[in-house]
Amino acid sequence: KMNAFVSGLMSRMTLEEKIGQLNLLTPGGGVATGAVVSSDVETKISKGQVGGLFGVIGVEKIRKAQNLAISKSRLKIPLLFGSDVIHGYKTTFPIPLGLSCSWDMAMIEHSARLAAIEASADGLCWVYSPMVDIARDPRWGRVAEGSGEDTYLGSKIAAAMVRGYQGEQLSANNTVMACVKHFALYGAAEAGRDYNTTDMSRIRMYEYYLPPYKAAIDAGAGSVMTSFNEVDGIPATANKWLMTDLLRQQWGFKGFVVTDYTAINEMMAHGLGNLQTVSALALNAGVDMDMVGEGFLTTLPSSLQQHKITLRQIDDACRRILEAKYKLGLFEDPYRYCDDTRASREILSADKKQAARELGARACVLLKNNQQALPLKKSGTIALIGPLANNRHNMLGTWAISGDPQAAVPIMEGIKNAVGNSAKVLYARGANISDDSVFAKKVNVFGERIDIAPEPAEQLRAEALEVAGKADVIVAVVGEASEMTGEAASRSDIGLPGSQQQLLQALAKTGKPLIVVLMSGRPLTLTTENELATAMLQVWFPGLEAGNAVADVLFGNYNPSGKLTMSFPRNVGQIPVYYNHKNTGRPQPDGPTEKFRSNYLDVANDPLFPFGYGLSYTTFKYDNLKLQATLGLNEKMDLSFTLTNTGNYAGEEVVQLYLRDMEATIARPVKELKDFKKVLLQPGESKTIHFTIDREKLSYFNSNLQWGADPGMFDIMIGSSSADIRLKGSFELKAKS
Ligand code: IFM
Repeated sequence: KMNAFVSGLMSRMTLEEKIGQLNLLTPGGGVATGAVVSSDVETKISKGQVGGLFGVIGVEKIRKAQNLAISKSRLKIPLLFGSDVIHGYKTTFPIPLGLSCSWDMAMIEHSARLAAIEASADGLCWVYSPMVDIARDPRWGRVAEGSGEDTYLGSKIAAAMVRGYQGEQLSANNTVMACVKHFALYGAAEAGRDYNTTDMSRIRMYEYYLPPYKAAIDAGAGSVMTSFNEVDGIPATANKWLMTDLLRQQWGFKGFVVTDYTAINEMMAHGLGNLQTVSALALNAGVDMDMVGEGFLTTLPSSLQQHKITLRQIDDACRRILEAKYKLGLFEDPYRYCDDTRASREILSADKKQAARELGARACVLLKNNQQALPLKKSGTIALIGPLANNRHNMLGTWAISGDPQAAVPIMEGIKNAVGNSAKVLYARGANISDDSVFAKKVNVFGERIDIAPEPAEQLRAEALEVAGKADVIVAVVGEASEMTGEAASRSDIGLPGSQQQLLQALAKTGKPLIVVLMSGRPLTLTTENELATAMLQVWFPGLEAGNAVADVLFGNYNPSGKLTMSFPRNVGQIPVYYNHKNTGRPQPDGPTEKFRSNYLDVANDPLFPFGYGLSYTTFKYDNLKLQATLGLNEKMDLSFTLTNTGNYAGEEVVQLYLRDMEATIARPVKELKDFKKVLLQPGESKTIHFTIDREKLSYFNSNLQWGADPGMFDIMIGSSSADIRLKGSFELKAKS
């Protein structure tokens, strides 16, 4: 039915109208997500020169633009309306890196479902998410948008988010089309500098970087966005191997490919030729839609005349975009997503706010808890100190373009809500986010969008010490401003700004319990803070319900269960530091640094906080591991162990299964995550946990890029983090069943 409809429509389209469908514009007026905005948008829509718009927010504006296409353009082809809905729409959830720390696939899927319901109620049908770029370098500001360093977990999250956005039926008015990005390898930008070159072996690509994109596509993602970087020397947007051979032919992707913002035009700067040449390269590579650059619109007709591209290629691209519109139900009803009553019912509804609060708490990772300083008691006097303690503007984090920072719950408000009249809360700002005015200006920390202006550091610190002197416990809320993370926000020094470090030094000297609440969009280097703090809670950017969510954890209404999905380096020189590294031929053994071993003279090899790490208010015991000594190549093995809550609080533990291949044809990592479960246990309760081991879990890409498992020995490690392994075993994979 769809084929017949689209073919019929295309038979009536002129070449210009077909090329018009490949043109994606943004009229500006909202939050800019790139350096330029489109001009004469209304005229272009009327002439049938536009396939879709993004950055248009709200039913009224979307209806108006759709109406132009439907009433003015010759063939009345409806427009696609997209947006960067990255971690919630108006109800902002924690940043994706925080969400990933929940390891809760059902909740992550639910967050995408809610975002889809809310965004579609406001006129949108297409979201630029999930961002599934594996990242091992926290200097890169965009680590905030992804799910961290691990391929297995990243793939599960990618699929969960696609399911959440697209639901059961794409044509339903409460689902949206997902756009998996940034294809591919964007997370491997050299030195963590945004938009920088990437270069890696095919084995690394296949094994670690590509699977999350594939998982999103296998889950049915309707569209893919190209990345800005090059892949094997060719910018992704012109890379035929990537966009056609791999994506369409090997992986069977049937949706459409859109570029990132002006990515075609940027290939001129990459040095690939003029606009006509790079536009033809992109179409030849398999790109269907040109975001903002208008290179397709302006140069494809001449390229066709000069036989640099074929009509078939234009037809294929046009067909894919029309098919997306068909699947979204736009031909049946172009206003399907424009329903004012749905908008007023769904936007910022109570269930979404409640989910934001629950997700905010589940994203928190307890990094340290000496003397069981947490949970806090709702009594006595609490000194709440820090530039992020009462700062509405920075609660939502990066890429919350539809969220309203003014609606966010600051930490102070959440804490006051939690304690009511039972405890006294004293506040002092204590420090500027940064005292470095050049840096602050670059990230707009003191800009007009921020509600707090800089003040003299000594004065702020003195006020903080005065407040601390009157309190029983200090809660210091410190970290990065939202604008210090995200796109074009790479940092070469990922420490807490000096102003805030000095504040913590001064507070620690009081000798009072110092609870450090850390807000950031990336792993920070926290060796000093770790020494100063009694307890540390990593809260990322928690979203709309920030204050309530963080208070839930601080006061024990929710027992923290988050586990890190990116290693926290001890210093920048360790980067990249990730848990699934190779052993090398000269591994450093446990213990003192040895000469002629793979190590540093001035820092340990391991990170400060490893992948999978996170404490709870309770404790868990792992025992009774049962597994077979051998496994046939085509057999499955059930592995089981007992998990017991040995503490005083109900709590969830993320149990993690790691494997190591001891005999392979290529060097394999020291461990790899192969499964996990999040388990809720009451105090004293035990559960038997099962994992299944099969050939798939034991397979890898060999040097011919063939996927398979080699017979031989495997080590099994079950742990509470990648470094805290509680149970160990091994088995032999036999050549035959
Ligand atoms: O979706 C984004 C992308 O992640 C970065 N460049 C701009 C796009 C559209 O806003």
